[in-house]
Amino acid sequence: MEITISDEEVLSVNRAILLRYGIDFTNYEITSLKRRVARIISKYNLNGTLGLWRQMLKDSDFIFTYIDEITVGLTEMFRNPDLWIKLRDDILPQLISNPSKEIWHAGCSTGEEIYTTSIVLHELGMRTITKTIATDINRGFLTAAQKGTYDRSLITQYQKNYQTYNPKNTKGISLYFELIEEQMNILPAIRQNITFQEHNLIKPLPNAKQKFDIIFCRNVMIYFDDKLKETVLQHLHQTLKPSGLLILGYFDALSITMYQPYFEMIEPAYKILRKK
Ligand SMILES: C[S@@+](CC[C@H](N)C(=O)[O-])C[C@H]1O[C@@H](n2cnc3c(N)ncnc32)[C@H](O)[C@@H]1O
Repeated sequence: MEITISDEEVLSVNRAILLRYGIDFTNYEITSLKRRVARIISKYNLNGTLGLWRQMLKDSDFIFTYIDEITVGLTEMFRNPDLWIKLRDDILPQLISNPSKEIWHAGCSTGEEIYTTSIVLHELGMRTITKTIATDINRGFLTAAQKGTYDRSLITQYQKNYQTYNPKNTKGISLYFELIEEQMNILPAIRQNITFQEHNLIKPLPNAKQKFDIIFCRNVMIYFDDKLKETVLQHLHQTLKPSGLLILGYFDALSITMYQPYFEMIEPAYKILRKK
């Protein structure tokens, strides 16, 4: 049976979660939020939004399940290979002369995107001289990202993406993993200089003094409404160095009027924006 949820019901759940856990889903795009909440209710056999709330009160860990279901961590290594070619051949080499090189992966999910940048930096000889911060609202994803261990079955897709990015490297992406039975672990050389931090993009990054050359915020804002998108854009703008770059996902839709006060779109094909 299809479950329908009203705007008021989902907004009440948001308010209750904000009050009890301090986690703010207020400005998530309402149609997809309702769809996801309905899916949770059906998947866990709960009785409407009241049943959902009862479950949160009964099981103190259910909030983490809820966050997992709402935030959706879909990601992969070398997703959109042409972006990584652009970064390798054009964007990252321009950082070489900067006295400090700092990158922020905002909404990093389980880490595949961070380690992709890390491999590109490693191949450019820049891994050890670049600092990376990786953040996500979802503690479970962040723990997985920090661990850097993935299911071996994923290697076929990652290998395919990597071959498009670097066909000259005949060993392919497995060069960067230690393969143990059904698992693959990212090698220590690729993990260097990365710190992980739980963070909700609705707020500025706590260490306000730190400024970045590049911020990746790919496929995160798709879940936000226009008000939250604007708040996040302002935070990201403040956290970039002068002329720093913001890299969005191919499907992140931002209207020109929204980003224009803060950014100039310099590479529309790759969704790369420069701080004004
Ligand atoms: C689809 S994944 C994108 C992962 C990666 N950036 C990529 O493109 O491969 C979206 C990520 O955004 C995170 N996210 C959603 N809302 C967030 C918020 N308010 N603050 C920080 N991260 C958030 C989710 O937990 C999830 O890991």
